[in-house]
Amino acid sequence: MATEKLKELKQVEKAEVASYFNGMGFDRWNRIYSDSEDVNNVQRNIRIGHQKTVDDALLWLKEFGGVSEMSFCDAGCGVGSLCLPLAAMGAGTIAASDISQSMISETQRRAEVLGLDLSRLKFFTSDLESLQGSFHTVICLDVFIHYPQKAAEEMVRHLCSLAEDRLIVSFAPYTLFLAILKGIGQLFPGPSKTTRAYTLREEGIIRAANDCGFELCRSKLNQAPFYFSKLIEFRKIHSSKTL
Ligand SMILES: C[S@@+](CC[C@H](N)C(=O)[O-])C[C@H]1O[C@@H](n2cnc3c(N)ncnc32)[C@H](O)[C@@H]1O
Repeated sequence: MATEKLKELKQVEKAEVASYFNGMGFDRWNRIYSDSEDVNNVQRNIRIGHQKTVDDALLWLKEFGGVSEMSFCDAGCGVGSLCLPLAAMGAGTIAASDISQSMISETQRRAEVLGLDLSRLKFFTSDLESLQGSFHTVICLDVFIHYPQKAAEEMVRHLCSLAEDRLIVSFAPYTLFLAILKGIGQLFPGPSKTTRAYTLREEGIIRAANDCGFELCRSKLNQAPFYFSKLIEFRKIHSSKTL
């Protein structure tokens, strides 16, 4: 397919994602990422699984030490499940962004309720592709579900270009089991209640980071029956300065 046509398709799909997360998707995910009782069993289960991913990422950030000296980028921050506790931990500066204005407004509202220092926590409505700048650590949790393999690898390369030292990403890994589940899901008729969801081959994600001079430092698979997410920390290989 011609490159222009592919670009056009990407734009259409991205517009669908933005519209979903500004409307029905915002309502659904805002409830999942909260302590609302208004969730079904599957949503409750996703909440539990996602919290494991957030907790692990925060633990890894804490273990690295000295977050107060560091700058962070939370790309596709949703309602702030990661950036808000990170700010409460005393992170130096955080740039939190999301394609959805509704998500950003809710993150901002939650930050105000928590009384966080807003001079160190900045919010932007932006898609991942448009992000610019340089940050000690870039984090992107559970956003790649909206990216097919090649686009996700391209995005890893883009996020690496923003990260001075570390990149932490999570995504739904491709497994035969998930592929079968997805296949079964597609057999059911009726309109989709979500946006398109992609599982990704881990080796492609790692290769993309390696190409940018980042090496895999650690990884963990978090799962709950309706949630699968592979969390990976990459570190930049800094050339040693020998005299
Ligand atoms: C499943 S939520 C995860 C949110 C957050 N990272 C977390 O773990 O709590 C996915 C988020 O990605 C955002 N998103 C999807 N595609 C995006 C894109 N191209 N650029 C920026 N954000 C995007 C959605 O608006 C949504 O808030």
